[in-house]
Amino acid sequence: MAQNTIRIETKNPRFATAPELYGLFFEDINHAADGGLYPERLRNRAFEDSLVPEGCETDPEHKIYINDGNWPGVFNHGEGMDEWLAAVPPTEIPAWYTENAEMTLLQAGTLNQNRKAALQVIFNQGGALKNIGYCGIHADTGERTRFYAFLKVQKNCTLTFELTADDGTVFGTESIKVQASTDYQRIEAGITCRQECSALSFVIRCDCRNEIIFGFTSLMPEHTLCGHGLREDLALQLKNTHSKFIRFPGGCVVEGINEQNTLAFSKTVGPVWERPSAQLMWHYRTTNGLGFHEYMQLCEDLGMEALYVLNCGMSCQARHGKGFPEDVTKKYLQEALNALEYALGSTDSRWGSLRAAMGHPEPFRLKYVEIGNENFGPEYTERYELFYRTLKEAYPGIIFISNGHTEREGLTTEIVDEHYYNAPEFFLENTDMFEDYPREGPDIFLGEYAVNGGKTIASMECALAEAAFLTGVEKNQDIVRLSAYAPLMQNSDYTAWKPNLIVFNNHTVYGIPSYHAISLMAKYRGENVTSLSLTGETEPPAYTGIPGILTEKEDFWFKNVMVDGRPVQQEEMEAIYGELRYDVEEQAYRMIFGNHRHHYTGKNDVWNKAFEDFIYSNSSREVPILWTMFHTGEKDETCFEFDARFAADNSVSFSVFNSCGASDAGCNEPRDAEWNRRRIRNQVWQIKDEKSALRVPRIFEKPVSEAEKVPTCIDYTCYNHYRIVADRFGYCCYINDQLIIEKKQPLHPVLHASCEMTDTKVYLKVVNVAAEEKELTIELDTRIESGIQIEYIEGSPEDQNSFEDPEHIAPKMISMDVAFDASEEDRFQVTVPPYSVSVYSFTKQ
Ligand code: AHR
Repeated sequence: MAQNTIRIETKNPRFATAPELYGLFFEDINHAADGGLYPERLRNRAFEDSLVPEGCETDPEHKIYINDGNWPGVFNHGEGMDEWLAAVPPTEIPAWYTENAEMTLLQAGTLNQNRKAALQVIFNQGGALKNIGYCGIHADTGERTRFYAFLKVQKNCTLTFELTADDGTVFGTESIKVQASTDYQRIEAGITCRQECSALSFVIRCDCRNEIIFGFTSLMPEHTLCGHGLREDLALQLKNTHSKFIRFPGGCVVEGINEQNTLAFSKTVGPVWERPSAQLMWHYRTTNGLGFHEYMQLCEDLGMEALYVLNCGMSCQARHGKGFPEDVTKKYLQEALNALEYALGSTDSRWGSLRAAMGHPEPFRLKYVEIGNENFGPEYTERYELFYRTLKEAYPGIIFISNGHTEREGLTTEIVDEHYYNAPEFFLENTDMFEDYPREGPDIFLGEYAVNGGKTIASMECALAEAAFLTGVEKNQDIVRLSAYAPLMQNSDYTAWKPNLIVFNNHTVYGIPSYHAISLMAKYRGENVTSLSLTGETEPPAYTGIPGILTEKEDFWFKNVMVDGRPVQQEEMEAIYGELRYDVEEQAYRMIFGNHRHHYTGKNDVWNKAFEDFIYSNSSREVPILWTMFHTGEKDETCFEFDARFAADNSVSFSVFNSCGASDAGCNEPRDAEWNRRRIRNQVWQIKDEKSALRVPRIFEKPVSEAEKVPTCIDYTCYNHYRIVADRFGYCCYINDQLIIEKKQPLHPVLHASCEMTDTKVYLKVVNVAAEEKELTIELDTRIESGIQIEYIEGSPEDQNSFEDPEHIAPKMISMDVAFDASEEDRFQVTVPPYSVSVYSFTKQ
């Protein structure tokens, strides 16, 4: 067995560390904002949840909505995901219920022009209106909560507010007298809870028969982080990550499902009851309580830099969105300028004065601004150029981030935001990914990453793969300057996406193993990255394969498909985009366009049926790519062969795909078959313009260089025999038994490491992804104290944290004296626990 040795050259620092390498990415996903970090306790406080999302249509039963690009979102009359619907008693107006009273949603006579609904309640004698919050309201013993509402009242009355358990026990109450009014008036009351309870409802009782129209309501805890309105335990959970910046507000929510539902800056500032709400693609509506101001204040309170993401005039392309027309795009450019003025402008400026009025006369710090999120293509390039030029001229001190490699289009690009969601194998096998990035820039922001595919999720296995990847990031932090796991927060009752770094319910919170691994790495930061060499055990990549053929044009015929010498039957083939037809005359299969559907598979039959009836009867989508996969199961070795005939101008790709195992990770949205094949890290044999290349397609990949291409001579007039032989060690590709191109898969280490130092300290981070403990020899070129400190996490791959066992995986600290070898330099041995992430702190002598 190879000896594992790490040699650290402290006298030879490579480059300065990126001080803000570790950060956070907050997006309102999984009800992370309202009912979460923004501790509003009333759900549907503005009564707008059941309104058909602006610019969308719903099916007759309001189960789903579609945007103008036919992207479906689960709606359920505003309750959101099916699971939530199932968990709450039925009601027409989400979260609100009456006893001895009647409620009606009004869409006229609302509180202000941005409020699209109001709630009319006719109270009978002793009648009540009730809100059940976000799966129950929590209050601690002695906790004060503050209720306010804007309402119109027909008759003078006494209103009583109660925190009430399901059995009717009242945990806190307050009454106020209210005068009749034809205009909206603001009322307020403080309620003290006498005993901790997490399953309360908020009840409003009226002492007489009366009509009350509620324009807006709110129930918030009085005690919040620094008194600035955010939930303290969640904010402290953020602080404990040792992060240096917060990216906000998204994510896809920045672009929105359409123009009407973007998170434009101006919708997120000013009095909360005047902020328009927006339907998020995560299946609920936000009232934007956690807006731009609250975000900037949070960054200040936590001592983190702000990284604001602005809409650059596009809706979410992943949800069939597009670039807005020029005049609308310009409106978004103005929104961007306004946001920057709000953060940084003087109190004499229009938006700076609003900031002052909101309680912050001093400018905020705003270091980074990202132009769009996950936008791509010419529509983005055009907008990036406009936004960058205009904003940089106005604010030269801000660092701007691009969503793509716009430098490849010849545009000035300071930082590129790259996102990676993938299986553990992807992260383990790509720890060196950033090594061949050009050093002249642009810098890289690893803006979203997570293991979200594989056998387990939110587990130690995922944390290990991410931590291993982060050692590669640390070793390349001259170019990767910022990083953030995604998504950040999950209300456990409203999971629209998983895994998430932090899981909470209405009163408690825990971090998944990744939280502890990343926080551990972020805690120990040096000023310089040392040279480090690691020798030792390696492993071939994990491998499981599914063969497939991808073609850009219809003209592709194939027959005699064999996998591992076994003929493949028609029912084992699946066309992902497009259709596969057997042509009897030709005695071959043909890939064709026309009437192609995205084969969505929803979460349950009811949903699928609604989708089939509603979407497919109304539309057909053309996708100019044909992709056929072969259901041959996943194996460690695959020989995939077939005869094919196609035109010289048809670019084709053959592959043995590495797919991730099935898990319910990712977003709780309709999935198509392609989605389930997405997290692949396959080598694809691409034949284009009579040249072959073996490449791993990735969103951010560089174009294939000429040097990587191999001339490929094909007689296009006839069928040729194509064969790929793939195993854990590499790929060989043949045409008519002649080897055209081959590639060896690099072995990857079992231990992963990185090292940083200050003048007095050396921090060595070691990730052991093996099932056995490993003896590791550490050599340094400098004398250190024999007492060393090790902080580490360890566990089995499937280990997870939970509300019941929140610290099952959590850091442990040990100190020990090491025994040095009798030599000039410091050399000693440590035992690295199996499945562990460890930080060794050494003190220089
Ligand atoms: O983190 C969840 C989503 O993943 C983000 O909204 C988006 O940017 C990415 O696709």
